[in-house]
Amino acid sequence: MANVAVIGAQWGDEGKGKVVDWLASRADIVVRFQGGHNAGHTLVVGDQTYRLSLLPSGVVRGKLGIIGNGVVLDPEALLSEIAKVTAQGLSVTPENLRIADNVPLILPLHPALDKAREAARGDAKIGTTGRGIGPAYEDKVARRAIRLCDLAEPETLSDKLDELLRHHNTLLRGLGAPEFEKQALLDSLLALAPKLLPFAEAIWERLDEARATGKRVLFEGAQAVMLDVDHGTYPYVTSSNTVAGNAAAGAGIGPDAIGFVLGIAKAYSTRVGSGPFPSELHDEIGKRLGERGHEFGTVTGRPRRCGWFDACMVRQAVKVGGVQGLVLTKLDVLDGLAELKICTGYTVNGQMMKRLPTGQRAQAAAEPIFEVMPGWPGSTRGARSYAELPAEAVKYIRRIEELVEAPVVLLSTSPERDDTIMMRDPFAG
Ligand code: IMP
Repeated sequence: MANVAVIGAQWGDEGKGKVVDWLASRADIVVRFQGGHNAGHTLVVGDQTYRLSLLPSGVVRGKLGIIGNGVVLDPEALLSEIAKVTAQGLSVTPENLRIADNVPLILPLHPALDKAREAARGDAKIGTTGRGIGPAYEDKVARRAIRLCDLAEPETLSDKLDELLRHHNTLLRGLGAPEFEKQALLDSLLALAPKLLPFAEAIWERLDEARATGKRVLFEGAQAVMLDVDHGTYPYVTSSNTVAGNAAAGAGIGPDAIGFVLGIAKAYSTRVGSGPFPSELHDEIGKRLGERGHEFGTVTGRPRRCGWFDACMVRQAVKVGGVQGLVLTKLDVLDGLAELKICTGYTVNGQMMKRLPTGQRAQAAAEPIFEVMPGWPGSTRGARSYAELPAEAVKYIRRIEELVEAPVVLLSTSPERDDTIMMRDPFAG
């Protein structure tokens, strides 16, 4: 089965939406396998701009979209996203969207706890999206999550809410936040049941059938390797595994089915929220990248921090994420700069390192080591072949390939879907 998994190779917002949309036209099924509505994908299709958080990008292209068990699902967020894209002319029904019946749900108490904890952290806050992602994953691992299938069993639901509220109300009380009342939660979940259950099924069976019939599956990652709960800049990370390996567990299929792993990276770096960012720019160039790249969070609207391309970090993401080919996006944002820098390593407390250190203080102390390259005259925007790129831009790409130890297989040169240069078809395996 020629499948493809797409993951972010930096701190998210690499332009996965466009790439996944582009690849979705070659796939039969698009599966989300982790994260929740903390993700934000912008798809530009003709004169329509779709902002998706939970829906797999494939639904825009008339493909079957699947929300896997590795996601944390906020039912209200899903229904309002469906209403929004329906108003834009799309149709989302159980015919083109299936949801794992074992997916854990995000309830209103999760964002309440997320926000109360962030407020209590003060300056040490993680800078979460406030969507309840962390608390929902905690409940899953602690075996007290309400899952989609529970909506079909009112008695199970009632018993589970007792346990859930015992835990959450104790915490919320401690944080001085309002507590939740069981009956209101139970009523709202039972009211949601008829709207959500028609989408629910055992996804592993559908994927097994897809495997048997040779369907092409695209696994759509959210966030990115440096936000991975194990491999990222912990604790300034999200609460799921964002590496390609999790596509198997988060969808319910064997690891051999993941297929070709594409890592998406911007031609520079951005980050939202707190945490280390060694190649961050605090000057006019950083501001210019932010403005030219429209670097504002899709979900929260927060301005993104901007910096030079960190090849040392992306190399690490390539290794731990299982990336076989890189997609480089937003090269045009660098157009017109006299010179460019690439971070090739760090000095940490006087010591040179070729990887990001693991400890929190050491990560914060990492100073970038830069290599300087010439910029290019003219524009790369909208280029559809390497021949259209200035020689310096090609050199920049080749240097990135060397440093991150992975080939650039796709180059995205504008938000438009067709402004993409393909060096190798990822579905060809
Ligand atoms: P959470 O996922 O809401 O818990 O947030 C944890 C960290 O991940 C914060 O730094 C967020 O800004 C970051 N984050 C979560 N989702 C995304 C995303 O889709 N793009 C970029 N950063 C994200």
